[in-house]
Amino acid sequence: MSSGKQQPELVVPRSVAVIMDGNGRWAKKAGLERIRGHERGIDAVRTTVTECARLGVEALVLYAFSEENWQRPQREIDLLFRLLKRFLVEERHTLMKNRVRLLHSGRRERLSKDILQVLDESIAATAGNDGMQLSLAISYGGRQEIVDAVRVLAARVQRGELTPAAIDEATIHAHLYHPQLPDPDLLIRTAGERRISNFLLWQVSYAEIYVSDVCWPDFRAEHLLAAFVDYGQRVRKFGKVL
Ligand code: IPE
Ligand code: IPE
Ligand code: MG
Repeated sequence: MSSGKQQPELVVPRSVAVIMDGNGRWAKKAGLERIRGHERGIDAVRTTVTECARLGVEALVLYAFSEENWQRPQREIDLLFRLLKRFLVEERHTLMKNRVRLLHSGRRERLSKDILQVLDESIAATAGNDGMQLSLAISYGGRQEIVDAVRVLAARVQRGELTPAAIDEATIHAHLYHPQLPDPDLLIRTAGERRISNFLLWQVSYAEIYVSDVCWPDFRAEHLLAAFVDYGQRVRKFGKVL
């Protein structure tokens, strides 16, 4: 470049997590029912999955339904899960085409039999893919994930397989839902909210946080790329002096 002015560099994070927020606000602004926002959010999911896979992201975790979201009106919950089911069936070919391996993060207990069935079918159908790992966080809570890990560890201690002194960070990590997923380098939240909302509490300890003001149904490839450019400007120190 003749001016000598450097373009900010786009850096693709190894691992990305997204709090897909603002569907309700998007719908309200458009004078529509909240569920229309969730419906339109599917386009943003498809775009984000496809772009991340294309750019070489290794792991993507999308927050689709939190443990706390069970407190929403039953009608919204029912419609959300109907959409999720449709997504899991209709987007299977997108996952296959992009060699994406699907995973589920969260508790299975409260999920209906038919959701579990399509979820498990999609997980099985994509299990042989060698591309990006995509985990859908459904009925997921960060605290609950830690509680679930602690329960398994306590049982192992009780059986005499493990001593309390032998429990370290690696032991806890190994008992999370998907220990093979790298911790997120970049956590994106849409719709302007600056909070974690119980997402991946253990894993985000050194994630870079990027908040986009765009509501999730309006989130496009350009917004994802803007997040990656911003990520490229971050100085990651991990507590050290550089
Ligand atoms: C995110 O959008 C989707 C879910 C939490 C399932 P919201 O439904 O939270 O949208 P807002 O925050 O009300 O705008
Ligand atoms: C977080 O969004 C959960 C998901 C995106 C699935 P919420 O909209 O539920 O979070 P709060 O209530 O604003 O913290
Ligand atoms: Mg919200």
